[in-house]
Amino acid sequence: MARLKNIDSFLIVTICLLATQGLAASGGAEVESANIDPNNINSLQRGAANFMNYCSGCHSAKYVRYKTIGEDLGLSEEMLVDSLMFNAESTFDTIQVSMPSDDASQWYGTAPPDLSLMARAKGVDYIFTFLKGFYVDAESPTGVDNIALPGTSMPHVLWELQGYQSAHFESYEDSEGFVTTTFKGFKQITPGMIDSEDYDKFIRDIVNFLSYIAEPVRGFRVMLGKWVIIYLIFFLIIARMLKKQIWKDVK
Ligand code: HEC
Repeated sequence: MARLKNIDSFLIVTICLLATQGLAASGGAEVESANIDPNNINSLQRGAANFMNYCSGCHSAKYVRYKTIGEDLGLSEEMLVDSLMFNAESTFDTIQVSMPSDDASQWYGTAPPDLSLMARAKGVDYIFTFLKGFYVDAESPTGVDNIALPGTSMPHVLWELQGYQSAHFESYEDSEGFVTTTFKGFKQITPGMIDSEDYDKFIRDIVNFLSYIAEPVRGFRVMLGKWVIIYLIFFLIIARMLKKQIWKDVK
């Protein structure tokens, strides 16, 4: 009996672990939740188009092929060629950037990083906060700074959509003379083409797409996980029946 109990608890723990995996999110007190829905194909399709239009001029995503994106997001070859592949020849190509990285380093100070794995490296919530976090700073060469990445050399490429905002900070000096500055909030200075709710949706789609390219096999992994759980439950039932059968004559 003791052994069966062990098997039971082992299976229950395994099932719980499988069920909760993926819930562990990256933290950070000031980071806003991106609230993406990886199963929302429309959001991923919009995100792909937004990425190609607004980000791919500077950022590559060299670990993902157009063909894979097309297959996973239900886009025909024609749609791929017409709406996503601006500088690619074949659907077998990966997302490359036309700007040579040496030039990019010279222009921006830091070369725009490849974004294939960025969602895994920094977390989707971070990227969401980053894309919302540009504020006017007259001293910065790009005219803006960012709350998530202070001193960033990325310009506010979505300014037309979001408009410009200023950031409000409060400084506090303790008795020993240490100054702590805390961020208190943004204030809209010039309006963008869309309101802040639609802007959130717009960048949420991009972040969703970045999350997808960081792990294109996620769908398969989730599906496999479900089958493993079903198998484990099935195995538990069989094990119980087998145990009853084997022990029925032994008293
Ligand atoms: C005009 C060129 C340019 C465009 C267009 C651009 N970026 Fe960037 N991006 C940069 C540069 C330069 C950096 C490096 C910034 C740094 O390290 O300070 C960067 C960095 C980043 C980072 C990494 C931030 C970090 O913490 O290291 C992310 C994420 C990012 N960009 C997302 C985007 C997304 C999403 C878009 C499209 C909406 C976009 N970028 C469009 C130039 C660009």
